Amino acid sequence: MKKNFDKQKFIKSRIDEIKKVVTGQKAVAACSGGVDSTVCAVLAQRALGKQFSAVFIDDGLMRENEPEKVISLLKKFAIKTKIVRVQQRFFQALKKITDPEEKRRVFREVFYKVLGETIKKQEAQFLIQGTIKADVVETVGRIKTQHNVLGQIGINPQKYGFQVIEPLKTLYKPEVRQIAKALGLPKEVYQRMPFPGPGLAIRVIGEVTPEKIKIVRRATAIVERELNKFFPFQVFAVLLSDKATGVKKGKRIFGDIIVIRSVDSSDAIKARATKIPWKVLEKVQEKITAEIPSVARVLYELTPKPPATIEYI
Ligand code: XMP
Repeated sequence: MKKNFDKQKFIKSRIDEIKKVVTGQKAVAACSGGVDSTVCAVLAQRALGKQFSAVFIDDGLMRENEPEKVISLLKKFAIKTKIVRVQQRFFQALKKITDPEEKRRVFREVFYKVLGETIKKQEAQFLIQGTIKADVVETVGRIKTQHNVLGQIGINPQKYGFQVIEPLKTLYKPEVRQIAKALGLPKEVYQRMPFPGPGLAIRVIGEVTPEKIKIVRRATAIVERELNKFFPFQVFAVLLSDKATGVKKGKRIFGDIIVIRSVDSSDAIKARATKIPWKVLEKVQEKITAEIPSVARVLYELTPKPPATIEYI
């Protein structure tokens, strides 16, 4: 983290920059409810007022009740938000895709196409995007293609019909959280756990289907509910593509395997598995196998980053 980070100076400089670049035109931000995109939306709202609006892309890959929560949060900040319901487009595009990087590329293509269409309808010219330094470093370093990194890897956003402004691209997560707090955003935003843009699509190993998303969504809700109290940097469930044998209600099943991933980190560049008491892990396992009929096994992942990454793919 930068020493003597002057938050008010940063906020003012970003607001001035947005005003200067957009002058007389319109901008849109795709808001997922995460700290990065919410900070961008608030900066843009302050810079542009009525020349700015947010869009929420309902891609069918969010967590339980997430669309409702995000929309009610944006309402609190009087940010005008258009909801774009495109779940089928994402599922259709992701059909038969199993390779992790291909999944991200396909997600990115549909995401920006939808955004481009929305921005055109709104007669806007700019997308204000919450890309942060870690996204750029990891994508340019070819560790992982973050869906929101375009220009830095030679993709011209004009291909989708807009220009991009990235007010947070020099900051790491802890600094973005400080800016969120300085902007008066609530704890639920500035302490919010990172959630990847492609959402539950990268928490399903192998092909993404609505049925598999439903399973991992339920497991995620259980894992978050039971493990949030340990304040991990991120905690989530992953649905493997393998199967394993189990016995449920006296019957043998060849069922699903859920992995629990919980990590401590400050910047997502390095991470360690959270030390969770055995009893708590047993309780989470019991809940997952009891509440999700298809699940036969629950595993806890120990590998730090490096050599692993935080996400499973
Ligand atoms: P990894 O798995 O690379 O994750 O250690 C580092 C951080 O980035 C998040 N992540 C993503 N975020 N689109 C995103 O917006 C992606 O494709 C993506 N892949 C990983 C991950 O959740 C962690 O916070």
